Amino acid sequence: MRIDIITGFPDILREPLQQSIIKKGRDVGAVEIHLHNLRDYTDDRHKTIDDYPYGGGPGMVLKVEPFDRCLNDIGQHSDLNKTRIFMMTPRGRTYDQKKATELSLAGHLIFLCGHYKGVDERLYSLYDIEDISIGDYVLSSGEIAALVITDSIVRLLPNVLKDIDSAWSDSFQEEYLDAPYYTRPESYKGLKVPEVLTSGHHERIGEWRHKKRVELTEKLRPDLLKKTNE
Ligand code: ADE
Repeated sequence: MRIDIITGFPDILREPLQQSIIKKGRDVGAVEIHLHNLRDYTDDRHKTIDDYPYGGGPGMVLKVEPFDRCLNDIGQHSDLNKTRIFMMTPRGRTYDQKKATELSLAGHLIFLCGHYKGVDERLYSLYDIEDISIGDYVLSSGEIAALVITDSIVRLLPNVLKDIDSAWSDSFQEEYLDAPYYTRPESYKGLKVPEVLTSGHHERIGEWRHKKRVELTEKLRPDLLKKTNE
């Protein structure tokens, strides 16, 4: 898979994209990630990427040309008709695990990071862009949303997690939250690990985990159960 991220603030992303699971995904060749600095696609001395909104009002709007030039540049090396382009914006559909799974099967994704009041709307007339939000709150930066989405996708790619079953049993991958987990020591400050987990009895452990998943979901996120029953 290839992911291109177009941003006015590449430094927000550079380090996190070189750590942990995303680093592993890049190292094993499961994903190729390209960061593009919007300022490299400006032609004025100040490398201006935003401007005042027509009609007035507070805030700045990201200009259309730098995005257009950068996308055009990416299009020189790959077929944008086979690529899904996403704008990080609170006005988009809310991202979830189902979407992460769907996008993990794509060949090429481009994430556009909005800022300020958003991006000149004409960009949507030039490219087929899907809006996507990571939740009903406003971030100052689309970069963090792009990072969240990239992380959730890369961990699902083949050869990234040691134990892919671990990803498939995660909370939200199915309708239930994941079960609680414990590791050594077996007893800590008088608190013991549930006995069944040290029994070595895999069937009983499986049953216990399933029971806990249902209990936890009912207690913490009953809305998830309603959603699947709708
Ligand atoms: N940019 C600002 N807020 C955002 C959000 N909630 N999701 C994605 N991008 C954003």
